[in-house]
Amino acid sequence: MSDQRAIVVYSQVISADQSLPTRQFQLGDHFITLNQDKKEEDAQLSNVGTVVWEGAYVLCEFLLRTLDKGAWAGKTVIDLGAGTGLVGIGLALHGAKVTLTDMQHILPMTQANVDLNSKLLSEEAGTMSVQEHLWGSSTDHFRVPYDMIIGAECLYQPEHFEALLESIQGLSGPNTRIYMSYTDRGRGEHLFTPMLERVGFLVIKIPMAAMHDEYRGGRHHILRIQRKS
Ligand SMILES: C[S@@+](CC[C@H](N)C(=O)[O-])C[C@H]1O[C@@H](n2cnc3c(N)ncnc32)[C@H](O)[C@@H]1O
Repeated sequence: MSDQRAIVVYSQVISADQSLPTRQFQLGDHFITLNQDKKEEDAQLSNVGTVVWEGAYVLCEFLLRTLDKGAWAGKTVIDLGAGTGLVGIGLALHGAKVTLTDMQHILPMTQANVDLNSKLLSEEAGTMSVQEHLWGSSTDHFRVPYDMIIGAECLYQPEHFEALLESIQGLSGPNTRIYMSYTDRGRGEHLFTPMLERVGFLVIKIPMAAMHDEYRGGRHHILRIQRKS
């Protein structure tokens, strides 16, 4: 099995364009293709999940480059607000058993991208499935606790933070590793950390030096979160 370090090719202009119908990313020795469907932004931001966000490749690149493969290979992972699915698909291609979740109206796009890339799973033990999960709704039908919870760019609507926190509490156990990424857009992103701490999670912001040098400008952040023992 290849021990190649995973690199997300985001420096290419083509990778950064949310208006393209498809985008390609290199993750180690896998090339994945993701469909996008850029829509007019509506007041409720209900279609933000149909394009790939910067925080998705910031998080995916970080996880694949810095964690031992043992951190996710064969482990159960749930991707919250998966959208087009880059992080979940990236981990599944490297051996994780990933459940990609989002709101019901986003799931056809998530499923299409899973289907588009599922042929790449053959050499690894990874799996991908897609399920609806509205933050704050019941987690009873999920196989909790997950080994890992990931959430890229989910911190842009503080009015949904309480519900997101409930989901994280419901899906995690004492040993669950949680990673979330966000980009500072002045939408109260930083307010989620004290909410996590208040209910007993330890939150560590990944130092800039550990991030890829393209993302050390201060706008991009990754949180590593775990229940305090
Ligand atoms: C900015 S997008 C990020 C998508 C993807 N993770 C990425 O980084 O490319 C935020 C995602 O969270 C989902 N989302 C927003 N509010 C949600 C809620 N209350 N319950 C479940 N998903 C939600 C959106 O549908 C969207 O897919």
